Amino acid sequence: MNAAMAEEKVLNLYSARHYQTDEALYSNFTQQTGIKINRIEGKEDELLERLKNEGANSPADIFLTVDAARLAKAHELGLFAPVASKTLETRIPSHLRTDDWFAFSTRARVIVFNKTQLKAEDVQNYADLANPKLKGKLCSRSGSHPYNLSLMASIIAHQGEAKAEEVARGMVANFARAPKGGDTDQIKSVAAGECGVTISNTYYVARLLRSTKPEETKLMEKVGIVWPDQNGNGAHINVSGGGMLKNAPNKAAAVKFLEYLASDQAQRYFADGNNEWPVVESVKIANPALESLGKFKADKLPIKNLAMYQAKAQIIFDRAGFK
Ligand SMILES: [Fe+2]
Repeated sequence: MNAAMAEEKVLNLYSARHYQTDEALYSNFTQQTGIKINRIEGKEDELLERLKNEGANSPADIFLTVDAARLAKAHELGLFAPVASKTLETRIPSHLRTDDWFAFSTRARVIVFNKTQLKAEDVQNYADLANPKLKGKLCSRSGSHPYNLSLMASIIAHQGEAKAEEVARGMVANFARAPKGGDTDQIKSVAAGECGVTISNTYYVARLLRSTKPEETKLMEKVGIVWPDQNGNGAHINVSGGGMLKNAPNKAAAVKFLEYLASDQAQRYFADGNNEWPVVESVKIANPALESLGKFKADKLPIKNLAMYQAKAQIIFDRAGFK
């Protein structure tokens, strides 16, 4: 076997995704290409740290993670290598890719409200969460979490820093309690009436809607879901994605793998596994929970812009006391 052929046969993947359905995603790739995948799973920030420390000696070919801010961080650290691929260029819309990292699924940040405390009309836009009418009603996860930082970054990108800070301050003034827990905890608190409203990523909402636990289905009857900013820029979108690493020992296999992730089959696995949407627009998914949320207008802001305003978003949250 010559070196080029040997290079094709293995792919080292660092992944912050940890969904059971991803097993099928990877075994299909091996079946199709004969390339074996060595997978290392870890927490998002740990893997990033590991890649940084391994430097030029890293065995990793591909880094997969969630949130545009983390992908952009990997880019800033110079970890990714540019990939020129017609397949990726034609399959993935331009606002969902960069030169060296690509989104493979999308999630939106929606408003979840308690139906006995509020009406959908009260919370149509992210900025409505700053309305003094909602005093004592808003629950949120931490302001330093990437999901909230990316949302704030999109508000800065669209409406400028001053408006973004006004929204952040208004939200803090409306807090029912200090930020704590994850998105699912907020939804549960809203359903229980401890808070009137929160924001959540769509896959957490879909996961509860699809739950086989009766107490969770009951919970979801108490809440309403709003697609925010539908008369403006559209609902804030974040992504999961990845790229080929600069020091990848198996570059040909890495490009093949990225192209595979944009295939119809992989797109369905990628999205359904975590109740997300495929980035390839022609791909149809069969996910009753996502369908029940209805059609919506998604923000078309290029995902790399979220990263651009990330540091500003943190400064604004800090100034506003959004901990
Ligand atoms: Fe999440």
